[in-house]
Amino acid sequence: MTDRLQYGTTAKVFHWLIVALLFVQYPIGWLMPDLHRDMKPGVGMTLHISFGIVILALIVLRLVWRLTHPVAPESSLPPWQRVATEGVHWLLYALVLATTITGWLFASFRGWSISLFFMMPLPMLSADNPTAGKTIDGWHQAMEWSLLVVIGIHVAAALAHLFIYRDRIMQRMLPG
Ligand code: HEM
Ligand code: HEM
Repeated sequence: MTDRLQYGTTAKVFHWLIVALLFVQYPIGWLMPDLHRDMKPGVGMTLHISFGIVILALIVLRLVWRLTHPVAPESSLPPWQRVATEGVHWLLYALVLATTITGWLFASFRGWSISLFFMMPLPMLSADNPTAGKTIDGWHQAMEWSLLVVIGIHVAAALAHLFIYRDRIMQRMLPG
């Protein structure tokens, strides 16, 4: 398959939709009430889990789209920047997947029943398992922080291209 040279509308919509949802998801995660033993999920947790499942569904669709519609790195970039860009992009896909799946596993190990936006029940991935829940909670936090660090690197690179290199990298992901 020949790689495209530009991102199409679908790839751009996926990109900015997931950015917007992560922008909502982190504050909900930090602001929702702390967990206590035997507590049941409240409004904050239900929203966090619901947005998280939407992010998971979108990243899976986006990954399938990316694999079936590959886009070549910008040809004017030096080889090291092309490799670094590709590496960071694949890491972002992997970390969004890891963050959402560890979150879903954690909610499942708590033995909760959760609804998706208070509308329909969400299938859980396992039965109640407090020991596994403790371990996976640590993983969810490790993944969510790693994702934040890699997003920081990715955004810093995008801004460097916009303001320092002044090339067309940023335009590749903008409408038009
Ligand atoms: C990329 C998507 C996600 C991000 C960025 C994210 C982020 C966060 C953050 C920032 C916290 C607060 C923990 C802390 O204080 O460090 C948290 C906690 C939590 N998240 Fe997520 N989350 C995501 C997806 C999910 C999903 C899909 C689920 C479940 C289906 C989920 C379930 C939970 C649970 C149960 C907690 C409470 C754990 C605790 O407070 O120890 N998360 N998440
Ligand atoms: C304000 C924040 C952001 C800006 C300005 C931005 C900018 C960009 C730009 C300009 C590209 C194209 C780079 C190129 O082709 O060389 C890109 C690609 C990408 N961005 Fe972002 N981004 C942002 C946030 C995020 C976030 C939060 C994620 C997390 C999931 C993300 C994930 C990706 C991925 C995976 C690609 C590669 C797309 C592909 O090739 O499939 N971006 N971004």
